[in-house]
Amino acid sequence: MPATSASAPGKAILFGEHAVVYGQPAIAVPVHQLAAKAIITPLIQAQSGAIRIEAPQVNVNAELSSLPASDPLAAAVRLTLSALGISAPPAFKLRITSTIPVAGGLGSGAAVSVAILRAVSAFLGHPFADEQVSALAFEIEKLHHGTPSGIDNTVITYATPVFYIKDQPIQTLKVAQSFTLLIADTGVASPTRTAVADVRSAWEKEPARYAQIFRQIGEIAKKARVAIEAGDNKALGPLMNKNHELLQEIKVSSSELDNLVNAAQNAGAWGAKLSGGGRGGNMIALVDADKAEMVSLALMTVGAKQVIKTIVK
Ligand code: PMV
Repeated sequence: MPATSASAPGKAILFGEHAVVYGQPAIAVPVHQLAAKAIITPLIQAQSGAIRIEAPQVNVNAELSSLPASDPLAAAVRLTLSALGISAPPAFKLRITSTIPVAGGLGSGAAVSVAILRAVSAFLGHPFADEQVSALAFEIEKLHHGTPSGIDNTVITYATPVFYIKDQPIQTLKVAQSFTLLIADTGVASPTRTAVADVRSAWEKEPARYAQIFRQIGEIAKKARVAIEAGDNKALGPLMNKNHELLQEIKVSSSELDNLVNAAQNAGAWGAKLSGGGRGGNMIALVDADKAEMVSLALMTVGAKQVIKTIVK
């Protein structure tokens, strides 16, 4: 059996994070500059069923059998085997690498899962269809997020902009005019699970106030969809700014994120907001293509650890 590999992109949430967990729509796009990769090499000498997992960036180098059920890399392999009804596959080594920052709101967990599900199923001769990849990646998201909405596995599996509502079939988004996004990293790692859990306990204490904020965020996502499909990209700027304010209200922003958002707005971005789970991780700024360099410089000057430019189309 030859070596097999698969990769999956990063993602950015343009509108609707957190509210999407409570049934509101959200918009997410793939980020092709970032990727997770899974490479499988057959281990000819080893006994069938032996599976080694190497993920140097997260310090994993172990036999599958020694990893706990809660380990998301092991879970991706085990789910693939059980979905295919295979208990003793030909021995192989799975190596995982990724350029997506971990705990940065850019979908690293879901991208790694999607890459593993695709690589292992292809190696075993039964490549999963996208629908199955997304459904299984969702199961693994539960280990990362607790109560995920499903947006990450969806946008990353289909690698196309999506308008997403929890538990509904995927709706792809037609981007009438491409637009430029800057993605800037605060350098603060922030696990999504904690932010999602904190929002849940705050919502339990003040359900009416939180439901009202989630509805407002949902309305923004709906307006943004209309603007994107009409090619009215400039209209997205104020919607992003407003979405950021609402995320501040539910306490998922941070001083580092606010600092980058303000710097982008002051440097002439059309709009800016945190992206993903928040508290740290990344923010996004929508810019006129001509201003990308200037806004990027402004972000680096106030302390961004990295700025990625991506064109959404
Ligand atoms: O932090 P990320 O990139 O995994 O994004 C999470 C988005 C949330 O809405 C906060 C959670 C979810 O499952 O939708």
